[in-house]
Amino acid sequence: MQLGDCHNFHDFRRLAKRRLPGPIFDYIDGAADDEVTHRRNTASFQRCDLVPNVLRGVAAVDMSVTVMGQKLALPIYCSPTALQRLFHHQGERAVAAAAAKFGTMFGVSSLGTVSLEDLRKAHATPQVYQFYFHKDRGLNRAMMQRAKDAGVDVMMLTVDSITGGNRERDLRTGFSIPFRLTPGGMLQFAIKPRWGLNYLTHESFKLPQLDQHIDMSGGALSIGRYFTEMLDASMTWDDVADMVRLWNGPFCLKGIMAPADAKRAIDIGCNGIILSNHGGRQLDGSRSPFDQLAEIVDAVADRIDVMMDGGVQRGTHVLKALSLGAKAVGVGRFYLFALAAAGQAGVERALGLMRAEIERDMRLMGCQSIAQLSRDNLRFR
Ligand SMILES: Cc1cc2nc3c(=O)[nH]c(=O)nc-3n(C[C@H](O)[C@H](O)[C@H](O)COP(=O)(O)O)c2cc1C
Repeated sequence: MQLGDCHNFHDFRRLAKRRLPGPIFDYIDGAADDEVTHRRNTASFQRCDLVPNVLRGVAAVDMSVTVMGQKLALPIYCSPTALQRLFHHQGERAVAAAAAKFGTMFGVSSLGTVSLEDLRKAHATPQVYQFYFHKDRGLNRAMMQRAKDAGVDVMMLTVDSITGGNRERDLRTGFSIPFRLTPGGMLQFAIKPRWGLNYLTHESFKLPQLDQHIDMSGGALSIGRYFTEMLDASMTWDDVADMVRLWNGPFCLKGIMAPADAKRAIDIGCNGIILSNHGGRQLDGSRSPFDQLAEIVDAVADRIDVMMDGGVQRGTHVLKALSLGAKAVGVGRFYLFALAAAGQAGVERALGLMRAEIERDMRLMGCQSIAQLSRDNLRFR
């Protein structure tokens, strides 16, 4: 199986599974507890049917959107994800380059493996910095200042990860940073020597957003301990209000699900919220963002940009979310499996397929622009 054989999410996932050592594949593919929420994220799109209009002159289709002041050529963006260097040696460089080529936004995780400065210098496309809130307020201020100095466009504070989710696949394989593989996990690395060769012959693994501030080298601190020891579970709305003031630019909260929280986000001056359950990786049993979208849009979308991510695998999923009132839609595993399958060429192919699907589906729906999508186009079973 080659990249050219990949025509959809499932093909990229299959190729990624062939190329990656099992523990790394499971880190991407897995989710919390029984992975119920993870499965529901995609399944919830199937409760909803599209009702097309016809004969509307759709030779030209405009897929662009503006979200948090950023103009995107596509209504999807690459949501921030950790540790991309492990999935392919090009890591974040590949994702940023592909996002720039398609004129869309990409996120750099606090746990990213390429520095936000390097990515900013390389590409002019809108860049998000995904932030976790630390107990050390001085550290938070220093990291925000660094992002400001680098020219980051949007600050995205993840609020659904106040503690790490229970990812049982990782417990079984021993996946952690630094690696603490079980014998079974080690065997999985041994049978994927090509991944090992690539890993060892390219730039070394780093966490440049953090390693200036936190000693994660030589096993001094694991990512698990980073979450439990360094992040601040006592964070409140007042703390975030201070951050929003300090940032003084586009600021969004990732992981909002309740209407009351969406309203609080407006009160403290945020420009955007992302309905998300972290791809089902945090609170299993939580509602899917698509199921919750209409309620949130009705409560706040006239005052704040509402986005969503979780389970998006198809252009029709994107159109359903936009029809309900989302301004843009984030993808995670959709581009990560493509990255693991073939680096930058993989992510470009995945984004290209998604762009072609959205364009084709808009024509089939009878829409020339995203603004023409509405709830009139949807029926729920
Ligand atoms: C391997 C992996 C790592 C992730 N790392 C982060 C992260 O560092 N910060 C964050 O806010 N979200 C992170 N996420 C969540 C994504 O940003 C996004 O919310 C989620 O992947 C969307 O679901 P999907 O994968 O079904 O598209 C991660 C997701 C995955 C799959």
